[in-house]
Amino acid sequence: MVREWDPRTASSAEIASLLDTLNAVLAADLPQDPPWRERSMREYLAEVMPGERRISWVAQAEPAADGSPGAILGHVHVLLLGDIGVLEVLVHPSARRTGLGRDLVLTAARRVYQEGFQSIGVEVVGDTPAVAFYESLGFSKEYVETRSVLDLSGVDWAELAEMATGISAGYHLQFHPGGPPDELIEAYARAKAEVRDVEDGELRPSSYDPERLRDSLDCLHRRGMKPYIVLALHEQTGEVAGLTEVVVPVQHPTRADQYDTIVVQDHRGYGIDRAIKARMLLELRSAEAELTEVQTWNAQANEAMLKVNAELGYRPDREWCEYSIDVAELVHRLDAGR
Ligand SMILES: CC(C)(COP(=O)(O)OP(=O)(O)OC[C@H]1O[C@@H](n2cnc3c(N)ncnc32)[C@H](O)[C@@H]1OP(=O)(O)O)[C@@H](O)C(=O)NCCC(=O)NCCS
Repeated sequence: MVREWDPRTASSAEIASLLDTLNAVLAADLPQDPPWRERSMREYLAEVMPGERRISWVAQAEPAADGSPGAILGHVHVLLLGDIGVLEVLVHPSARRTGLGRDLVLTAARRVYQEGFQSIGVEVVGDTPAVAFYESLGFSKEYVETRSVLDLSGVDWAELAEMATGISAGYHLQFHPGGPPDELIEAYARAKAEVRDVEDGELRPSSYDPERLRDSLDCLHRRGMKPYIVLALHEQTGEVAGLTEVVVPVQHPTRADQYDTIVVQDHRGYGIDRAIKARMLLELRSAEAELTEVQTWNAQANEAMLKVNAELGYRPDREWCEYSIDVAELVHRLDAGR
């Protein structure tokens, strides 16, 4: 049975059951990824940026003979932003290939269509059943990135300390746990606006103006995700010449996520990319005791960043693809197939 579900009011047992399903999915599809923990799971599922909406549904098994509620075997949510609905679907490995995934997508797609949105996008991890699934539904591949993972146990910290200081004169680095300080928000947002050479997946919106940046930082904190920032300041102008952002989620604090890394055009060629990333790793090592890995996503064409990441010790792990489809086409196709 698929029903609309609100994580803000869901019982703790439902949240725990959904987490069990997520971890079963990870164990089946991405066995090297750390399992998620329950801390702030509700907030992770419920909190959104101002102006965005997330609508969720679950598929729950029948109650047990003693009347206790059935497990959450499937979940779909759609994040409505701009003119696109970004979809995420999970089906417990024990409940796959019964048509549940398709039902969940149809339920969400109907709503996205009614709400007047044009298209649906989804992130699909390479070498998992999701590839065949979304292709069978008519989604097409728009964009491919590579996820790479850095195992901190293999890092040469002395070499890294050297990289962190190998920056041209006229720049200095600053480390800001929690986000950029208020007096730098405007310069920080300018750096992000000028260069959109992001490491991030296209489906994750970046924040280019100060207000949106503040909202985005607040939202991260509410979801239990702690941002860390290293930036390179250009001493002469006070401008932010480069920045790198890593987020440590309380749901999986052993593996951090690299978000944007940006070096502003005029400041390229001065060793900033290498230095800010090296400094970040050094800082994280002391700030986050449990951290053992960092993961990052790069466009395959972004050779400069891939080279620096390889030097730091990142190893390519999986393809991370964006698929999309026109909503009306999807709804008609799925309705016709019923
Ligand atoms: C992708 C996923 C949602 C599919 O769920 P499902 O309930 O098994 O899908 P359905 O039964 O509705 O399958 C519909 C169609 O998709 C295709 N399909 C689904 N899984 C497939 C597989 N493993 N191999 C080949 N085709 C597959 C088939 O065409 C299938 O139709 P059929 O069974 O009649 O042949 C599920 O595997 C899942 O949860 N994956 C994890 C997704 C995710 O986001 N992971 C993130 C962390 S890895």
